[in-house]
Amino acid sequence: MKTPFNRILYGGDYNPNQWPREIWEEDMRLFKKAGINSATVNVFSWAKIQPDEETYDFSELDDIVEMLSRENYDIVLATSTGAMPAWLVKRYPEVSRVDYEGRRHKFGQRHNACPNSPVFQKYARRLAQKLARRYGNNPHVTCWHISNEYGGECYCENCEKAFRVWLRKKYGTLKALNRAWNTEFWGHTFYDWDEIVAPNALGDGIGREKTAFAGLSIDYRRFMSDSMLENYKMERDAIRSVDAKTTITTNLMGTYKGLDYFKWAKEMDIVSWDNYPAYNTPWSLTAMCHDLMRGLKDQPFMLMEQTPSQQNWQPYNSLKRPGQMRAQSWQTVAHGADTIQFFQLRRSVGACEKFHGAVISHSGSGETRVFKEVSQLGAELAALGNKTLGAENPAEVGILFDWDNYWALEYTSGPNVELRYVDQIHQYYRYFYEHHIPVDMIPVDADFSRYKAVVAPVLYMVKQGMAEALESYVQSGGTLITGFMSGIVDQSDNVHLGGYPGPLRRMCGVWAEEIDALAPEQHNTLKFADGSECGCSLLCDILHLEGAEALACYGSDFYADTPAVTRNRFGSGTVYYVGTQPDAQGLERILNSLTADAGIAPIIEENTRLEITRRAADGRSYWFIINLTGEPQPVPESFAGESDLLSGSKAGGEMKPFDVLLIER
Ligand code: GLA
Ligand code: ZN
Repeated sequence: MKTPFNRILYGGDYNPNQWPREIWEEDMRLFKKAGINSATVNVFSWAKIQPDEETYDFSELDDIVEMLSRENYDIVLATSTGAMPAWLVKRYPEVSRVDYEGRRHKFGQRHNACPNSPVFQKYARRLAQKLARRYGNNPHVTCWHISNEYGGECYCENCEKAFRVWLRKKYGTLKALNRAWNTEFWGHTFYDWDEIVAPNALGDGIGREKTAFAGLSIDYRRFMSDSMLENYKMERDAIRSVDAKTTITTNLMGTYKGLDYFKWAKEMDIVSWDNYPAYNTPWSLTAMCHDLMRGLKDQPFMLMEQTPSQQNWQPYNSLKRPGQMRAQSWQTVAHGADTIQFFQLRRSVGACEKFHGAVISHSGSGETRVFKEVSQLGAELAALGNKTLGAENPAEVGILFDWDNYWALEYTSGPNVELRYVDQIHQYYRYFYEHHIPVDMIPVDADFSRYKAVVAPVLYMVKQGMAEALESYVQSGGTLITGFMSGIVDQSDNVHLGGYPGPLRRMCGVWAEEIDALAPEQHNTLKFADGSECGCSLLCDILHLEGAEALACYGSDFYADTPAVTRNRFGSGTVYYVGTQPDAQGLERILNSLTADAGIAPIIEENTRLEITRRAADGRSYWFIINLTGEPQPVPESFAGESDLLSGSKAGGEMKPFDVLLIER
């Protein structure tokens, strides 16, 4: 049981500063009706709070905080440093960013500060501290929200200089750096730290996605992630110096590529994140993002933002269908959330988010479909009380997720541009999701011994100590699955020589001599020992067995009948190696055999397409049964007759699309 909250926070981003005061009263009335008990304020109010360099004016924010405190809200108080005031940029142009093309930006947008600008740092720290002094001991301020959705990157001269300092600290000598980046290639040898420049379009970057020197570009990503993390820590520490207790977070973005969230989470009291699936995002991918956000700290998380209905910034901003927001919210709680917060509570009158969904629409009415659905959920959450607050999500399977690997895999030039990190991980996740096998998303330095199986697709970068940790996990009885593009490079993106999969070769019991790349229109097949066949694509490792047994061989091409999927007994454990991208049916076969081998059972025996998730607290378990299939589904026999905490009625019969059951055992 780990939660900083006394109740499930239900509310979201609230910008009364954008509205006349009469509206505030109406807001309070309507929010109460909807069961809203929390508001996130001051996310983008820096320009209002600080009209010029010397003046701070908290009068409006005082009134907002006062009003919310009077109404007994849990206030999530943001520091507003996610968007700088125009005067700051005009006076100190260095606070804005230089982009990938090398252009210094003028004032505009948000999330726009150079993380290494001392001027930005000075004013951001000062603002955070002033806010903490003013509001930190207000008992209604339950959570600090630092900046907003950290992300993007800067390539300015301040960043370049800070990068060199970062590099010196990491490598000590230029000799070590030259070796790490393999700078003999294309005659890149550096003789002076000042010769090193940021890898954007003017340097070693190749069209944003690729790079001439992955070692350099990966380091720049690590450095940018660290730079922004320093910004976060700076504000956090400024707050902590005057407010010892209140929980501090910043809102993350799921599988967002730019920041190493496992590293970030260590500095955060609680993880919070913003969930914006598109109309066609698979539900399993959303579930995976929730599990990843829970995995960052191995603790329940906050859903800081979701839209009650539509977005504005996607190409096709479909409405959430009736019941969808509710189902999606329960899915979020099911996977470990202790809060449900919206962006936003009242729809903007102008600028680019005026078409973004909100609890209160432009009609201003409490009679809209969306408002009624928000109210229904509010009532359900209130009725549930604190039963699931801080509850755990027990799992026997751990899937590795690693930002270094994400960056390195996608920077590689070759063998196949279609190779996408998140997509590869998701293919494996989806199997467990569809089979009702709970999963933890884990970092590469996790305690593997907690899991019956560790799943490590495209474990491209095997950093120091990782192979040893995996070997000892398997040796003492664990089951590991990995495959193509694994064990290839070290932490600097230099190849582990001696044959793929490098340091994993011994435990996998295979040697991958060559890697064939298949274009989207090309396919091969997998032939399993029992004669059954399925498709495969993307990449095909050409394997030699070194102790492993072949579970499937290729069906065609010059490597027909050579092993493609293998299993190796190693110590008391087992390692599966999947040398290609099987189709869903093929992966199903392989993972069925793995789960049987490892003794992993689904949490429900019956065959059902419903999403079924379990949280546990105080010896009780909470079963979230959600119909996300778009078609009616029968309630599984094993739940029939049990009482649904949400409706109070007995479970049974059929669940309509987006229906939810919550059963306590
Ligand atoms: C992000 C931001 C919010 C808002 C929403 C709109 O999550 O944090 O300020 O812009 O997107 O979807
Ligand atoms: Zn910069």
